[in-house]
Amino acid sequence: MQNELYSIAGGSADSPRIPAHVAIIMDGNGRWAQKRGQMRLAGHRAGVKSVRKAIEFAGQHGIRQLTLFAFSSENWKRPETEVSGLMELFSRALSNETKNLAENNIVFQVVGDLTRFPEKVQTAIAAAEKATAENSGLRLVVAANYGGRWDIARAARILAERALSGSLAPQDINEDLLASSLAVTNDVDLLIRTGGEHRISNFLLWQLAYSEIFITDILWPDFDDRVFQAALDYYQGRERRFGLTSEQVQKRQG
Ligand code: IPE
Ligand code: IPE
Ligand code: MG
Repeated sequence: MQNELYSIAGGSADSPRIPAHVAIIMDGNGRWAQKRGQMRLAGHRAGVKSVRKAIEFAGQHGIRQLTLFAFSSENWKRPETEVSGLMELFSRALSNETKNLAENNIVFQVVGDLTRFPEKVQTAIAAAEKATAENSGLRLVVAANYGGRWDIARAARILAERALSGSLAPQDINEDLLASSLAVTNDVDLLIRTGGEHRISNFLLWQLAYSEIFITDILWPDFDDRVFQAALDYYQGRERRFGLTSEQVQKRQG
């Protein structure tokens, strides 16, 4: 892949109209392939170019963090050929893209229980994280063998261990501390789900508490800038009230 594929320099961030953190449930690969009489795996392969488009769009629009749901903790239950094909695809995509991520100032991170991944995939992930750790641009987080419940249970375990060791008093456990112990530490502003399902599928349960949610019937391999822009337009039309009344929100903004 060539560098111009993510020419993302110059994104303007920090405008309230631009969501700082966008998360995407990249769904619909299997249906996309089946509609064409192809194997499901062909849909996953076709989805890789949509990932590139999403990264590029996020960088160009000044989105600070893009979190992509690539493989859920429940997806292991799929047929063995699909799971192993996906693992192959991950490791190939990682080795093809690492240089490009690094050169485009992207900070790359994978969240999820990686212990179950093949050695080769774990090594490729570690290499990509290391190669991009010093960057300062878009934070690209890929959720792989990730589950929202796994994340919360893991945070609880981390805090319990600290409490047992005496470095944390149980009464000091609050929402902020729990949030900062999660694998994904910041709230999502905008959630996009392709493939039309109106559900969370055990994605970022805690972090989605006040997200705006954009669902489209477009299948992930057909995702492009127009769809991302439609999601941004939708986001910009929402009034984020966080429990307040509309009048209160308008007074604060005025
Ligand atoms: C999402 O597409 C990708 C993964 C879950 C890995 P699907 O494979 O779920 O596609 P559909 O929902 O069956 O069409
Ligand atoms: C969610 O899609 C997981 C990913 C996109 C990686 P699924 O296709 O697994 O979700 P369900 O099974 O339809 O809820
Ligand atoms: Mg699906």
